[in-house]
Amino acid sequence: MKKIKWGVIGCGGIADRRTLPGMMLADNAELVAVMDVNPDFANACKEKYGAKYAFTNEADLLAIDEIEAVYIASPVFCHKPQVFAAAAAKKHILCEKPLGLTIEESEEIVAECKKQGVKLGAGLMMRYHGYHQAMKALVAEKKLGQIVSMRGQLTCWYPEIPGNWRQDKARSGGGAGMDMAIHCIDLLQYISGAKAVEVAAFAGNQTFNYTADDFSNILIKMDDGSVMYVDANFNIPDAAARGRLEIYGTRGSVLAEGTIGQVEGGKVEVVLSNDTLGYDAAQDRVDVEAVELEAKLGNMYTKEIEGFGNAILNDTVPPVSGDDALQVQKVVEAAYTSAKTGKNQTL
Ligand SMILES: NC(=O)c1ccc[n+]([C@@H]2O[C@H](COP(=O)([O-])OP(=O)(O)OC[C@H]3O[C@@H](n4cnc5c(N)ncnc54)[C@H](O)[C@@H]3O)[C@@H](O)[C@H]2O)c1
Repeated sequence: MKKIKWGVIGCGGIADRRTLPGMMLADNAELVAVMDVNPDFANACKEKYGAKYAFTNEADLLAIDEIEAVYIASPVFCHKPQVFAAAAAKKHILCEKPLGLTIEESEEIVAECKKQGVKLGAGLMMRYHGYHQAMKALVAEKKLGQIVSMRGQLTCWYPEIPGNWRQDKARSGGGAGMDMAIHCIDLLQYISGAKAVEVAAFAGNQTFNYTADDFSNILIKMDDGSVMYVDANFNIPDAAARGRLEIYGTRGSVLAEGTIGQVEGGKVEVVLSNDTLGYDAAQDRVDVEAVELEAKLGNMYTKEIEGFGNAILNDTVPPVSGDDALQVQKVVEAAYTSAKTGKNQTL
């Protein structure tokens, strides 16, 4: 099989933790070069993952002819100039979420990649989780009937860290909402096949004194009439985290715990109701029997790299495209506007 030759820009964070180990297992990928502004990170990744080159400047990496695709995993405020430089060098680009700091930046990123004729994919890798794929199939088969309500919850403990870029809205684009709710919204749209049309939200800071939000509680009306609720927090201890996805329909429900995260794991329970049931005033729930959903689990980051590589090899739209990432960022921005104005936002 032909292998796509990769360069990685910003290799010291999530790239080193997850994506590079995932790339090593991908059957259509070959790592050529890594780059980080911190030379220690660049050199360490070169050694660890067997890259040919380590750089501290993206221009040097982009000058390597054999590199066909770059994975950009730098802080969000670096994305736009790096995407523009990579697109000008005619490299296909897998960019971490959110694409840009603002909708305007992300629109420019999407437009520039189209103009330069390079593919743009986004790091919303949780779609590849085996359980999330199985949940999508369950919904598509109408096993849950008409979807009426969904919930996505993602939390962590993120106390003030001096100089931290993610806690600074000007350098991250947002906190709990832009960093975490974005995954839940993307996932539930992906699983249900419905798209957000109207948003109401509370978001801001309950606990920590930084400019990025430490909580975002978002209510979303979907185009199929269902309603999604997303709660994302930077102020819930990791030990208390539940990481829930819940989907309720007229014939059943799905409850996933611990599937939203960086490792394919967790547990999913499904309850399917007898569709001949009439109204039960006692609400006895006699027919309730939860069964565990079965799915083949793997490595989301491997599948992400393989999926983007296959889009290049087969000249197809990337499975998680730049347009997808822009759309979900617009939902989060609408939530921030709703929180600020106290008014529902129509998308
Ligand atoms: N999909 C996921 O699972 C996931 C998880 C975490 C983070 N992310 C995303 O990945 C991106 C990076 O987040 P992170 O948590 O890894 O951040 P991080 O701060 O932990 O790591 C960022 C790395 O980029 C380097 N860097 C800083 N400025 C740079 C520049 N100008 N050029 C190149 N490298 C530079 C830093 O030295 C560091 O090694 C963000 O967009 C974030 O939202 C995605």
